[in-house]
Amino acid sequence: MRKVVYLSLLTGLLFLFSSCYHTTKETVNEYNIIPLPNQLITKDGRFKLTDKVSVVTADCSPEVQNIADSLITRIQNISGITLQSSKQAHTDLPAIRFLTVEGMPKEGYKLSIMPNEIALTASQPNGFYYGLQTIYQLLPPAIYGKELTKQQDWSLPAVEIEDAPCFAYRGLMLDVCRHFSSIDYIYKFIDMLAMHKMNTFHWHLTDDQGWRIEIKKYPKLTEVGSKRKETLVDYYYVNWPQVFDGKEHGGYYTQEQIKDVVAYAASKYITVIPEIEMPGHAIAAIASYSELSCTPDTTYDVTGTWGIFKQVYCPKEETFQFLEGVLDEVIELFPSSYIHIGGDECPKNAWKDCAHCQSLIKQLGLKEDITPNTVDGKKHTKEEKLQSYFVTRMEKYLNSKGRNIIGWDEILEGGLAPNATVMSWRGVQGGINAAKSGHDAIMTPSLYAYLDQYQEEPETAPTTIGGYNTLKKTYSYNPIPEDTDEATKEHIIGIQGNIWTEYMQNDERRDYQAFPRAIALAETGWTWNVNKNWANFCQRMVEDFERMDAMNVKACRSFFDTYINTRVYNDTLKVILESFYPNAKIRYTLDGSIPTAKSPLYTAPFVWEGNVNLKAAAFKGNKIQGKVTEKKLYSNFIAGKQYTTAPKCGWMSGDIFSENDVLGADTTTLGLTNGKRGNIASLTPWVAFKLNEKCNNELVFTIDLEKTATISAVTFGTLYNPAFRILPASAVNVEVSPDGKEYHPIAQASYTREYPEQGRKAFTDTVKFTPTETRYVKVILKSGGTLKNGIVCRKDTPDEIIPSDMYVDEIEIY
Ligand code: ACM
Ligand code: ZN
Repeated sequence: MRKVVYLSLLTGLLFLFSSCYHTTKETVNEYNIIPLPNQLITKDGRFKLTDKVSVVTADCSPEVQNIADSLITRIQNISGITLQSSKQAHTDLPAIRFLTVEGMPKEGYKLSIMPNEIALTASQPNGFYYGLQTIYQLLPPAIYGKELTKQQDWSLPAVEIEDAPCFAYRGLMLDVCRHFSSIDYIYKFIDMLAMHKMNTFHWHLTDDQGWRIEIKKYPKLTEVGSKRKETLVDYYYVNWPQVFDGKEHGGYYTQEQIKDVVAYAASKYITVIPEIEMPGHAIAAIASYSELSCTPDTTYDVTGTWGIFKQVYCPKEETFQFLEGVLDEVIELFPSSYIHIGGDECPKNAWKDCAHCQSLIKQLGLKEDITPNTVDGKKHTKEEKLQSYFVTRMEKYLNSKGRNIIGWDEILEGGLAPNATVMSWRGVQGGINAAKSGHDAIMTPSLYAYLDQYQEEPETAPTTIGGYNTLKKTYSYNPIPEDTDEATKEHIIGIQGNIWTEYMQNDERRDYQAFPRAIALAETGWTWNVNKNWANFCQRMVEDFERMDAMNVKACRSFFDTYINTRVYNDTLKVILESFYPNAKIRYTLDGSIPTAKSPLYTAPFVWEGNVNLKAAAFKGNKIQGKVTEKKLYSNFIAGKQYTTAPKCGWMSGDIFSENDVLGADTTTLGLTNGKRGNIASLTPWVAFKLNEKCNNELVFTIDLEKTATISAVTFGTLYNPAFRILPASAVNVEVSPDGKEYHPIAQASYTREYPEQGRKAFTDTVKFTPTETRYVKVILKSGGTLKNGIVCRKDTPDEIIPSDMYVDEIEIY
């Protein structure tokens, strides 16, 4: 694996050489190939496409002939130029030659473009296919359209490329269960993968919200399981009771449609891996056949809301027979060597309460671990071991049919099935643990590769599931940590981006979330880490946006906007403005007016005074590119300063996420003093605290002003969002100390609040006091009390009286 020679220096030089190739297009050079080839040397001159050019396929297999023919057809359809097909090795120049040689890497190719000849060399058809994708990317973006566009410059810049991928597995997952995608979208999605040299489409076909694959033996799966009565409106945790749209949502793919998709993908050297979720995420199946659950007499509905559900498959013979029957049809449809069996997020409540499950545990002799497991270092419960039994049994079945399983990293819990490949999503450790124990791993860590998260300022972005992965952060991901030993490296077989579609109701939303970040992952999958370069990627991305326009892909264009952030430099909080758009100039205002070509030019991070409404935009000349972005910033004595809190921030601890792996909330140390206040658009900027008796139902925020100062007010923001068990502070105490040891109170206030019936509200409160000299300050925020009707995150206990959590942002001292 991964034997390609790379020349990182050359890729750096590429952009020096290429400056002589300015065209009328705005892009900086014409070698805008994504993913970046691992070895590329630019040359002088151009190869022009004309009716005289022959496409020579002298010794090629029929499969390679098809690839060459597809070039002829595409050039004909889009440029109107008729390339000549030739089997003669000795045709007159100019020619595009397809040359088969032995011994090149499986997906590798060489492409030599000279003014009178193009030579594309490979050993395998996939190599030719990838070489062809490079050829297309050297042509004008119009080649990706559907229209005849004769007026373009149909020529290619001269170049020498020798290329092969870093990773064998380069994938994207699309969830079609939370929101169904039309079959047309699936084709377009596959086109996007193929043009970026990805080779795997992971099709998430079954989940709680819909069963999307026709299974002839079990017709109710689609008659019942493919439809839900209605769908949740707004973000999951906004309304309680939750609000639904009252509209039926459904859809599934017939076996004929699936065969066509698989064949289409194969023609583009993409393997389609189906995911049939088990034992959790099974409500659509058990709504169709309730006997598959631990409580067969219950009637289940395909769910129209999101999350993790306690109703799962019961590991009884009937269920195994059902799943084997489903998989028999699945393996007929999908020739992939892998079948994904899910395995994630399977609560064990139903198994704990089920007589069959408990007797099976006894019969199998499953015991709670006394010592930590050797693979993940954790002690597992009997029920987790039952899941391992479930997965291992399904693995054996699939192995007997010549297939291997992939599962999400939870399949490590309770013992890993012997031949399983692990898809590491809750971080990287699951993948590393699997690889260390000799299993293959595919890295899809949510903090980089979850494309359902925010990619731009959450305050103004369309609603997403939460989090914050910019294009830059996604691009920065290196699947192989520096300290990985050689044996472990060999088992990290690739990378995947995941597109979960709870908040992607239509094709535009899917495009918007997937692209351009999926393209950053495509580069990480193909291009060796040593050759990757963020600035260089951005240069090439400009043309890729033009390609996406030609393909009618509605990518997020925050690339052309200005990101507004704050960061501490040498103990001082500054605002940092950044646009990914190369050579754009950023201009900004601080008074809320729209920036113009005369507004101040941003050159470096700067300190702002007081409270400002910053607006910024990227300019080329006098013209604003992208959108104007905006952020209100608050300067005060403690902006940018370190602080401590008791309890520590974090939520969902003890649930599926660890304290440091939080989905949604800002847990950075400076979250409370970063100059930006939380808002009701999302939970992303808020800092979350779980308050209970252990911490006296209060949050204690302590800060050292670093020198004595006279203070006279504290401002703090807390959130009301009962659907997510969040209430704002009911009272505040301010205490001061000269030495950080002895504190005395100087102010307090309590609040009687008016709440809206539904939704969220951000409260900003200020407590003023006699100007006081101090060095240390404590701000103590008292819990908002208990909730009864708020929904408890991932626990179905709506009638239980529970303590509220507190979400805070920001704390300011004036
Ligand atoms: C997952 O995101 N539950 C794999
Ligand atoms: Zn059971």
